[in-house]
Amino acid sequence: MQKSASPAIDYIVRPSGPLRGEIRVPGDKSISHRCIMLGAVADGDTRVRGLLEGEDVLATVAAFRSLGVEIDGPEDGEAVVHGVGREGLRAPAAAIDLGNSGTAMRLLAGLLAGQGFDCTLVGDASLNRRPMRRITEPLACMGAWIETADGGTPPLVIRARDGLAPIGYTTPVASAQVKSSILLAGLYANGRTCVTEAVPTRDHTERMLAALGATLTREDLPAGEGSRVRIEGGGRLAATEIDVPGDISSAAFLLAAAAGRPGSDLLVRGVGVNPTRTGILAILEQMGADISQSNRRIAGGEPVADLRVRGVALHGVDVAPAVVPSAIDEFPTVFVAAATSRGATRVTGAGELRVKESDRLAVSAAGLAALGVRARTTGDGGMVIEGGTMSGGEVDSAGDHRIAMAFATAAAAAPVRIRDCRNVATSFPGFRTLANSVGLDIEVVDAGG
Ligand code: S3P
Repeated sequence: MQKSASPAIDYIVRPSGPLRGEIRVPGDKSISHRCIMLGAVADGDTRVRGLLEGEDVLATVAAFRSLGVEIDGPEDGEAVVHGVGREGLRAPAAAIDLGNSGTAMRLLAGLLAGQGFDCTLVGDASLNRRPMRRITEPLACMGAWIETADGGTPPLVIRARDGLAPIGYTTPVASAQVKSSILLAGLYANGRTCVTEAVPTRDHTERMLAALGATLTREDLPAGEGSRVRIEGGGRLAATEIDVPGDISSAAFLLAAAAGRPGSDLLVRGVGVNPTRTGILAILEQMGADISQSNRRIAGGEPVADLRVRGVALHGVDVAPAVVPSAIDEFPTVFVAAATSRGATRVTGAGELRVKESDRLAVSAAGLAALGVRARTTGDGGMVIEGGTMSGGEVDSAGDHRIAMAFATAAAAAPVRIRDCRNVATSFPGFRTLANSVGLDIEVVDAGG
């Protein structure tokens, strides 16, 4: 990765009018990681279209190359993963650097837990602060041997194992990364692995495993008890073609910006609308947004639609904890939308935001306060925001891509400088150009300037 070579940048965002136009956003990050990972251990060539070429996914591509997998591309979103089969990964020559990507590290740890070689996973300063015991503990129950740093953070040192034992596990936190890590380890287990979750989280791993021929069953438990997925170990995956839909988490910044600016009319084509990801649409609609879906179809086993938003004046809402997992990456956007809406917005049960690329509750609250918005975090993992106007000022993104993009698309009344925006490239290459093409006014400046 070329991280250290990239200069530090800030954004200067000037007030702008309604958003108008017709766009596409880059491919879904979660699905892109999974195409590379599952394609790598499948038999045959997996052809991918629409792959996100953000740094997080490129870290996964580099990781699998270092594990002996040939990957052509990605170029213009196209890649071919030449699968090496379930036993074909090879020991890497050096530690694998996963940069900023928690998804890459947690899913890879599951996939590598049952291999016959040692390896070490490292990350950048943000990833090195993120909790890993949530995966190392269940993987240890399967017989994996993974060491973390003191405090349960990366690096992860994974020791060679000769297969794993299946487990039944109920996830204590709502996390698709934990669920996926265990399911990927389950591919190498000697029997049936079962993961139960109280509130459904994104199910891209299950969908893709099923599409590649894994023996997997899913079941909704009786009312209120969540859902369960089971995977049979020992099976082989068969390569296929995968079309990656546009990332709803990237679309969300522009959809929310358009939703709250009267006069806007924005069409975003080809967005993934998997129901485990559409919490942001539900929250914006609850706030009064005018959003319509058309051209609904299934691509690569995932529901996709064109989303059209017409701008209105939004109002504050209470966001129910049950919606949180399906909008988990969109809360920075919800917070800035709430800041310029009428009335108060209350979010509860979102404590997981504290362990994302930054502490998104604290960093969002500080950013809002810097722009004159009354916002406070609450003890129940939430935030209360008094809607009104947002002034100009300076916001520190804490190196968090989603904080940077959320504030860059906020409707502030005067110019805002956003510090430390380099990591936008992890998930949304071309963000600034695309945002400006629909009416925003974002300038990139050297962080020193
Ligand atoms: C992801 C799951 C989510 C999300 C992350 C991507 C995934 O994390 O925040 O950006 O691809 O599985 P958790 O499952 O830990 O909440």
